[in-house]
Amino acid sequence: MERSKVTVPHVVSLKAKKKIVMVTAYDFPQARSADRAGVDIVLVGDSLGNVVLGHDSTLPVTMEAMLHHARAARRGVQCALLVADMPYLSYHLTVAEAVRNAGRFLQEAEVEAVKVEGGRKRLPVIQAMQDAEIPVMGHLGLTPQSVHLLGGYRIQGRTADQEAALVEEALALEQAGVFSIVLECVPAPLAARITKALRIPTIGIGAGPDCDGQVLVLHDLLGWSPGPKHKFVRTYADLAGEIHRALTQFKEDVEQKRFPSAGESF
Ligand code: KIV
Repeated sequence: MERSKVTVPHVVSLKAKKKIVMVTAYDFPQARSADRAGVDIVLVGDSLGNVVLGHDSTLPVTMEAMLHHARAARRGVQCALLVADMPYLSYHLTVAEAVRNAGRFLQEAEVEAVKVEGGRKRLPVIQAMQDAEIPVMGHLGLTPQSVHLLGGYRIQGRTADQEAALVEEALALEQAGVFSIVLECVPAPLAARITKALRIPTIGIGAGPDCDGQVLVLHDLLGWSPGPKHKFVRTYADLAGEIHRALTQFKEDVEQKRFPSAGESF
């Protein structure tokens, strides 16, 4: 059966009807594989910094790097909604610069929406992006671009005050017009409360089973990440192990003169 194109209104309409599936991808073959698997949303995440570029955080990721990878991912995606992360400092300085940078993703990489981290302090930027016809996905809880302010990669919303603040932030983002919100590393009961309070879908990562959808970083779910496995990740493959096995086999075959064979030669 031919799949229809996933659009922003379609994602919103999935709330409470079907769990939304989002996965990250950073290049053509990854995005193509995700799209062919039938995921709803492909996110060109700034986790690019960690899992592809080898940095310790997302902070060194630039607009140019994100655009480069988003353009490659675009060529692999036909049906899924393609969303790009706005990298650190691309939406923090002036509203005009933030809209210009968000617009570059739509114009130069042909993504269909952008994602920004943060709550109330991002409202002017989010509203200006809507005015420029740019759909925006929010991101609350553990926002990796705030790692130094947060004092590390920690679960958020553990105290009653933090919990109430996160519910307020989510409602404020919805009011500002975001079409969905990523909830990262918040206790499952809080994610359930936020999900219930909103008309738009929540997409969880380390936020329990009651969000409207789930997202994982591609390299984490494929067992291809450089770092230790997080509690909230389920690995569906051991790509790092398989790649190591294949490359050491190739090395041995060349050194032992088993490759190329007569059949692999002209
Ligand atoms: O950059 C990223 O991969 C993300 C997901 C974890 C949601 O923001």
